[in-house]
Amino acid sequence: MIKVGLAGYGFMGHMHAQCHEATGDSKVIAVADVEAERRCEAGEKLRCRTYMSLEEMLAAGEIDMVDICSPTYLHEEMVVAAAAEGKPILCEKPMSLTLEACDRMIESVDKTGVPFMVAQVIRFWPEYQVIREILQSGRWGRLEWLSARRLSPPPSWAWKGWLLDPAKSSGAVLDLHLHDLDAIAWLAGPPKSVQAVGVAGPQGGIDSVVSLGWDHPSGAKSAAEGSLCLSPGFPFSMALLVACEKATIRFDSGLSPSLVVYPFEGPSHIPDLPLPKVGAAAGTAGNISSLGGYYNEIKYFTTCLREGRRPDVVTPAESREAVRICLAVARSASTGQVVTM
Ligand SMILES: NC(=O)c1ccc[n+]([C@@H]2O[C@H](COP(=O)([O-])OP(=O)(O)OC[C@H]3O[C@@H](n4cnc5c(N)ncnc54)[C@H](O)[C@@H]3O)[C@@H](O)[C@H]2O)c1
Repeated sequence: MIKVGLAGYGFMGHMHAQCHEATGDSKVIAVADVEAERRCEAGEKLRCRTYMSLEEMLAAGEIDMVDICSPTYLHEEMVVAAAAEGKPILCEKPMSLTLEACDRMIESVDKTGVPFMVAQVIRFWPEYQVIREILQSGRWGRLEWLSARRLSPPPSWAWKGWLLDPAKSSGAVLDLHLHDLDAIAWLAGPPKSVQAVGVAGPQGGIDSVVSLGWDHPSGAKSAAEGSLCLSPGFPFSMALLVACEKATIRFDSGLSPSLVVYPFEGPSHIPDLPLPKVGAAAGTAGNISSLGGYYNEIKYFTTCLREGRRPDVVTPAESREAVRICLAVARSASTGQVVTM
C-alpha cells in the first residue's frame, strides 16, 4: 500500500482522497492543511494524521508520496520541498503560474530523480482518451478542426476566494481553459499561433475567454471557450467537437450518450467508454462530481510507482508547454494581438 501525504484538503483534496481509497493501491495516511476545520474533517473521515504544513508532514517521515492539491500559487514551493525529501509527487494542474516557476520545479525533481506528474486530468478522461484513440487510428481521415468548451459557475468553494484572485490563480485561462488548450495540444499538437479575447471579472483577472489556435502540427485549426464565472445555478459542462475529413465526433458532458461519432457515410455510432467502476464524488463543494478521470490519473500514477515506471501520459515538459500556451493566450487576450509562439 502506497502511503500518501495529501497537501490541501479542499475540493480537489477531497476528490483525490476518495480516488486513492478506491484504487486499493494507495491510501491517504496524512493530510497537511492550514485550516483547523479541514484538518479536523480529514482526521475524522480519513482516519489519518494531520499537520499544519507540508514541511511538518514531510518531517514526520511516514509517507511514500506527496499529492499536492493546494492553491496554484503554492505548487512551486511544495514541489521543491517534496523533491528535496526524495518523495514522488503528483501535483494538481496547472503546474505553476509562470514558466520560470515551472523550470525551477523541473530542475528540483530532475536533481533528485523523483517521479513527478502534473494531474492534467483530461488526458485520463474516458471520452477524451477514446477521441485520441480514434484520431490515432486514422479511420476518419484528416483532422480538420476542433472546438472545445468548458463552462462553470463561480468557484464559490475556493479557500479565501483564491481562484478569482488573478495573483493567485492567474484567472480562467490557466485554471480552466488550460484543460482544453492541453487537450487540443494533445490531440493536434501545440499551435504555433494563438489569438484570444477575454472578459475581466471583478478582481481584474480574465474570468471568461475565447481563443483560436492554428498551425497545429496536424494542420488542424482550433477554437476553445471557457468561463469560470457564469451564473451560480449554471451547471458545469465540458464539450469537444472534432471535425475529421470523413466523420464528426461530438463529446458533450451534458448529453447522453456523451460521445457520438457521425460519419459522412453510414450510421452514427456510440463508442464504448472505458469507464472505471468508481462512484460519484461525495462531500466536495466543487463544480464536478464525476470521479472517473481523477480515479484513472491516480491509479495510473500509483501503478507507475509500484512498477518503477516513469509516468509519461503527461510529462513535466508537456505540463510546462500547457502553461506556455495558456500564457500566450492570456497575453493575446490582454493585448488584442496575435501571439506567435
Ligand atoms: N483537475 C481539476 O479538474 C481541478 C479542479 C479544481 C481545481 N483544480 C486545481 O487543484 C488545486 C486546488 O484547487 P481546489 O479547488 O481544491 O482549491 P480549494 O480552495 O478548494 O482547496 C485548497 C485547500 O488548500 C488549503 N491550503 C491553503 N494554503 C495551504 C498551505 N500553505 N498548506 C496546506 N494547505 C493549504 C486550504 O485550506 C484548502 O483546504 C488548484 O491548483 C486548482 O487549479 C483542479
